[in-house]
Amino acid sequence: MNFFIKNIFFITLFYSSTAFSACDTSNKDIECGIKVFQERCALCHGSFGLGDGVLPLSLKQYPNTNLLKQNQQRTQSQDEIKHVVALGSLHPDISAEMPSWKDELSPFEINAVAELIFQLRTKTPQTVSLLRAREQAHIPSQQLGKTLFAGRCTLCHGKKADGKGRMAKIIKNPPPFNLTLSRAPDAYLKNIISKGGQAMGRSSRMPPWGKDLNSTEIDSIILFLKSIRS
Ligand code: HEC
Ligand code: HEC
Repeated sequence: MNFFIKNIFFITLFYSSTAFSACDTSNKDIECGIKVFQERCALCHGSFGLGDGVLPLSLKQYPNTNLLKQNQQRTQSQDEIKHVVALGSLHPDISAEMPSWKDELSPFEINAVAELIFQLRTKTPQTVSLLRAREQAHIPSQQLGKTLFAGRCTLCHGKKADGKGRMAKIIKNPPPFNLTLSRAPDAYLKNIISKGGQAMGRSSRMPPWGKDLNSTEIDSIILFLKSIRS
C-alpha cells in the first residue's frame, strides 16, 4: 500500500464500533486483559505481543509492534502502559498507527489489558501459556465467529458482511465480497480464509488469516458466515 492509502486506512477508516461485549467486572483482571488483548490488540501486536500481527506483516514500513522488545519501550510501569493504551496516537511519542482506546474500552478494561502487557514482559512464559490456553479453549461457536468477524473482517466486508466496509472505498476490481451472497462450501471457505485470496487464484487484497486465527476460530467464523446468508 502506498503512503497515502495507508494513512487514509488508519487515520480516517480504522476502528468502527463493533459487536464486542464488555468485560464482566466480576472477572479477574487478567481474564479481562486476555479477552481485550485477543479481540482488539492481537491484529497488530500478534497473539503473544511479539509484533507479528496480520497488519504489520502485510503492510510495508509498518512501525514495530513488538511489545516485548527490550530497551526500546516507551512504557515501563503499568501506569505508563495504561496511559499509552488510553491515548494511542494522541500521545506525543506514539505514531498514528496505534489507535486511541479511551472511547472504545472502559477504564477497567484498559487497566486489565495494561496489567496483561506488564505481566507478559515480567512473567513471559507463564503469561504466554495463559494466552495459549485461552486460545485453545475455544469451541467453535457462531457467537465467537461474530466477534472475530467484527474485529478482523468488517473493515472490508462491512458490519453486515455485505461487502460495504470502509475499506471498500479503496478496494475495487474485485471489491470485498458480499458474503451474504456467498454459496461456497465449508472447505473452500476454510481455505480462502486461512490461505488468503492469492493462494486460491483470487485477489491478494483478501488477506491470509491462518497465522492469526486458529482452526477453531476459523470454524467459528464459517458458522457465523453461514448464519447470515440471504
Ligand atoms: C492498528 C494496529 C494496532 C492496534 C489494533 C493496537 N496497536 Fe498498540 N501499537 C501499534 C503500533 C504501530 C505501535 C507502535 C507505535 C510507535 O512506534 O509509535 C503500538 C504501540 C503500543 C504500545 C507502546 C509500546 C511501547 O512501550 O513502546 C502499547 C503499550 C500498545 N501499543 C498497546 C496496545 C493495546 C493494549 C492494544 C489493544 C487494546 C493495541 N495496542 C492495539 C498498533 C496497534
Ligand atoms: C483488506 C480487505 C479484506 C479483509 C480485512 C478481509 N477480506 Fe475477505 N475478501 C476481500 C476481497 C477483496 C475479496 C474478494 C476476492 C476476489 O473475489 O478475488 C474477499 C473475499 C472473501 C471470501 C470469498 C467469498 C466467496 O464466496 O468466494 C471470503 C469467504 C472472505 N473474503 C472472508 C473473509 C473473512 C472471514 C475475513 C476476516 C477474517 C476477511 N475476509 C477479511 C477483502 C478482505
